[in-house]
Amino acid sequence: MGDSKGRKGEEKEAKEKKERRRERERVGGRERVGGRESWRECVLWVAYRVIGFALLIFVGGGGLVLKRMLGRGMVLGCSGASGSAGRALRWLGGRWGGAAGFRSGARSGAAVPEAASASEAGQEAVGAPPAPVKKGVQEFEVYRWNPESGGQPEMRRYEVDMDNCGPMMLDVLLKIKNEQDSTLTLRRSCREGICGSCAMNVNGTNALACLREVPAKGERTTVTPLPHMYVIKDLVVDMSNFYAQYKSIEPWLKMDEGGGKVEPYERAGQTMTVTENLQTIDERALLDGMYECILCACCSTSCPSYWWMGEKYLGPATLMQAYRWVADSRDKYTRERLQGLDDEMKLFRCHTIMNCAQTCPKGLNPAENIAKLKHSVNERFKASK
Ligand code: SF4
Ligand code: SF4
Ligand code: FES
Repeated sequence: MGDSKGRKGEEKEAKEKKERRRERERVGGRERVGGRESWRECVLWVAYRVIGFALLIFVGGGGLVLKRMLGRGMVLGCSGASGSAGRALRWLGGRWGGAAGFRSGARSGAAVPEAASASEAGQEAVGAPPAPVKKGVQEFEVYRWNPESGGQPEMRRYEVDMDNCGPMMLDVLLKIKNEQDSTLTLRRSCREGICGSCAMNVNGTNALACLREVPAKGERTTVTPLPHMYVIKDLVVDMSNFYAQYKSIEPWLKMDEGGGKVEPYERAGQTMTVTENLQTIDERALLDGMYECILCACCSTSCPSYWWMGEKYLGPATLMQAYRWVADSRDKYTRERLQGLDDEMKLFRCHTIMNCAQTCPKGLNPAENIAKLKHSVNERFKASK
């Protein structure tokens, strides 16, 4: 009886001890997590503070960075003045940058406090869309000659309000033609560097008028036809010799007799008599840098050899196209092509002066390909020389 009483007492004491230990652990646990009710609450507490801090940084310095990015149309490809989305984003950038109490410095790019006046910072008021840079009136001298009038060629001066004109030389010439002098004659078609018809000389360099930006204000801008070509009228030159030379190299795929042809067969309900001429990827890559030529003649008419011997020397544009067909793995007339070009005047008048590579508006390098063509001719026929 006494034993069982003692055992019960011990059990009760052990139970109480256990309870007290649990209570201690519970309280201790709370203290370890900074007084929060649970780990979950603790994590939320930390997250709120991190987000709050990040927002502070974003609204402050981030607004300025965003203003600059959007101001330059860097986001979503909104470049230049085009596109209402670009303008809206730039305006938004200005708003955010302004709301943060900062704006970009006039030239140094440093952030200046809101307190400084707009005129001190040398730029537009905070929040307003950037004021367009006034270009004002610019002068252009354009070559004019009308064979029917019987007069001498002259350089005629025009003034164009650049604030109401596109940024390219072709825009200027068309504005002159539409608004000041409808007799001005020039060739153009695509206005995006594809057709090659608007080639002319701007400030001494051959260029496509649609790809050449109007020179900076203050520079005297002269526009003349492609040099050393017969002029038909104003900026239009006679391209007959250039095209005849191009035709002389037979710029098309030449196969063996019956090459590519097969016995007629049916495909998709049609009778086929030819088959594809396949190339490997490497063979196709040999044509890169040549097939892109648009035959604008900027290179040929910048070549001194072509100036002096344009009737006999084929010139860089035609020679590069000649090599384009020599390099084509599908063409079966390489030997004949090289034989036709093995000529002192047609090919070897190129003296690697490189004007052609410098002037090409498509960034091609005719001089390099002419060098390869000379090498192919020499390799093929050196045994017989
Ligand atoms: S590298 Fe040859 S083709 Fe080119 S400009 Fe000079 S001479 Fe003419
Ligand atoms: S190589 Fe260049 S400059 Fe010469 S015709 Fe072709 S695109 Fe024009
Ligand atoms: S208009 Fe076509 S290349 Fe200039």
